[in-house]
Amino acid sequence: MTTAAIPYVGSTMDRIEGPEKVTGRARYAFEHSPQDLAYAVPVPATIARGEVRSIDVDAVVQLPGVIAAIWHGNAPRLSTPENAELAVLQSPRVAYRGQYIAIVVAETLQEAREAALRLRVEYDAEPHDVELRIDHPGMYRPDQVNPFYPADTEMGDPDSAFAAAPVVVDAMYSTPAEHNNPMEPQATVAMWDGDGLTLYDSNQGSSAVRDTLAPLFGLPPENVRVISPHVGGGFGSKAAPKPPVVAAALAAKQVGRPVKLAVTRQQMFAVTGYRTPTIQRVRLGADADGHLTAILHDAFEQSSRIDEFAEQTTTPTRVMYAAPNRRTTHRLVRLDVPTPSYMRAPGEAPGMFALESAMDELAVAGKIDPVELRIRNEPAAAPESGLPFSSRNLVACLREGARRFGWAGRDPAPGVRRRGRWLIGTGVASSTYPVYRFPSQASARCDADGTFTVRIAASDIGTGARTALTQIAADTLRTPPDRVRVEIGDSAMPSATMAGGSMGTASWGTAVVRACQSLAEELDRRYGEVPAAGLETSADTTEEIGAQQRFARHAFGAQFAEVAVDVDSGETRVLRLLGGFAVGRIINPKTARSQFIGGMTMGLSMALLEESIMDGEFGDYLNHDFAQYHIAACADIRDVDAFWVEEDDPHLNPMGSKGIGEIGIVGTAAAVANAVYHATGIRVRDLPITLDKLVR
Ligand code: MOS
Repeated sequence: MTTAAIPYVGSTMDRIEGPEKVTGRARYAFEHSPQDLAYAVPVPATIARGEVRSIDVDAVVQLPGVIAAIWHGNAPRLSTPENAELAVLQSPRVAYRGQYIAIVVAETLQEAREAALRLRVEYDAEPHDVELRIDHPGMYRPDQVNPFYPADTEMGDPDSAFAAAPVVVDAMYSTPAEHNNPMEPQATVAMWDGDGLTLYDSNQGSSAVRDTLAPLFGLPPENVRVISPHVGGGFGSKAAPKPPVVAAALAAKQVGRPVKLAVTRQQMFAVTGYRTPTIQRVRLGADADGHLTAILHDAFEQSSRIDEFAEQTTTPTRVMYAAPNRRTTHRLVRLDVPTPSYMRAPGEAPGMFALESAMDELAVAGKIDPVELRIRNEPAAAPESGLPFSSRNLVACLREGARRFGWAGRDPAPGVRRRGRWLIGTGVASSTYPVYRFPSQASARCDADGTFTVRIAASDIGTGARTALTQIAADTLRTPPDRVRVEIGDSAMPSATMAGGSMGTASWGTAVVRACQSLAEELDRRYGEVPAAGLETSADTTEEIGAQQRFARHAFGAQFAEVAVDVDSGETRVLRLLGGFAVGRIINPKTARSQFIGGMTMGLSMALLEESIMDGEFGDYLNHDFAQYHIAACADIRDVDAFWVEEDDPHLNPMGSKGIGEIGIVGTAAAVANAVYHATGIRVRDLPITLDKLVR
């Protein structure tokens, strides 16, 4: 059976929960207030390294409304987690400034905050080390990089090939730490009933939260229920459970009452993950025609003392361009810093900034048009694995993008186009993101009234996943979407992978199709007759996904930018952004477009604004609020548009789709930086592109 001839997948459908959201009826984690609720406020460490010597909990429990003050001296014991970051209040050690060292629980939020502020903590502080540098003696090669790639790869003789190349680029790039800032900060309401734990929680995967918390509290998974029907964004910060959800469950256990814990925006800059800063060296060697002979890409990045998060910065370089001689490496240093984590396109976003900036520099050095340079280095198969691509339409994106953007006849000379007080330039960069699919389960049910219910512990973090799954189910069941109810966001439903790695719809959609196919077959066998008790089927895609043929599966795209740079102030404005993507079949053009232009907007923000500044003296990220951590707002965004090219790929999943949540951010910053070079003649290799880097 194929869904190809049936109409809902591929057509625009409004978000099912849209009216609920805009009228305020959709309830988010924080909005649940069970009887007898108490409020928990975590206390962050004010040293970057050392030990908590003592906490005067007795003093604060005397304060009005305070129920408990919890620290490692009196906290319930947890099993040792795989990720030591989650061992909340289990040890006096402080691994980074901002780490939770205590939790105050009180009758009201105000009382809890007041008591938390008054808590007297004594530390044995130790000197800290928070600065990422390339020559740090602690640099090491991780065993692998996220999620499962080798740290280093090498083919041919890259050093000799680079040394012999007539046209070369050898440049250092850097990207700063950046913090995920979804609209809804992390929040949890935790309730115990004997040995049963229920959480209303804001996350990117309720099954993952259950599977992480259950062993931590020594419970079988079925004793933990995580309910998360609506989530206000995550960008990766809610993909894996972080300390706040553990803190909420721990506090509720300690006081024997339901507890609400909402992470403040400021605390998000320490405890909910961020994009590691990177320092990258890219060396490209090419012949006089621009054919690459050597590609070398080395990345240096950080993790915390307590957890190794090794970002996959150079992995996109392994699939982008043909070259017989190549090397990619990752080196990591463990510092006294908050633990980095996923942030929209971890690896690809910073890595492609460096590679695609270097490609632009090579185009300039070799006097070749940058669109043409990329087309000339198109590989026939995946350059390192040798696997055939399941589909690859980078060239189509570049060509069609160039046509729509008006690239033809572009004068490559930098710094020569002036419009009033603005210097104008255009730039291009490629984009890519891998196609992942993880096992999931789903159930499908038909009731006697002819309506259908599909259940899966999927997450809609604002992407439109619920709507896309409804379209997929409707097509498979050959019924209009208004007869299908898709229920998601509850770990009591069939287990599912998280909304991350741009794999949600592909993973969940496969399970939904399989469950709905069995149901449709069962109904066919009964000539459409539904028994009074209804009919239910289920599916588990573990085997199907395990057995899939080996292909290089990746999405590709091309980003075009036009910028204006003020000749005196250096202020940069992005006048136009156009992204073209080859991502298999588009399930819902409306929600897909939002994913693309949302990613591109975040890429613009990365290019010009976002930067978390580490305070060397105190060891934390200084600019931890929206007054000082700048994110692109409406006035920064002029004309952002996306299109997609037809791509028919039979090797993906029953929908023929590739993930679209992250590719929009990849390459955007390089396209902007390349346009800034074209406008001004100044090559900014260190993000973000702030005024000081353009004023001389
Ligand atoms: Mo995404 S950064 O893989 O949630």
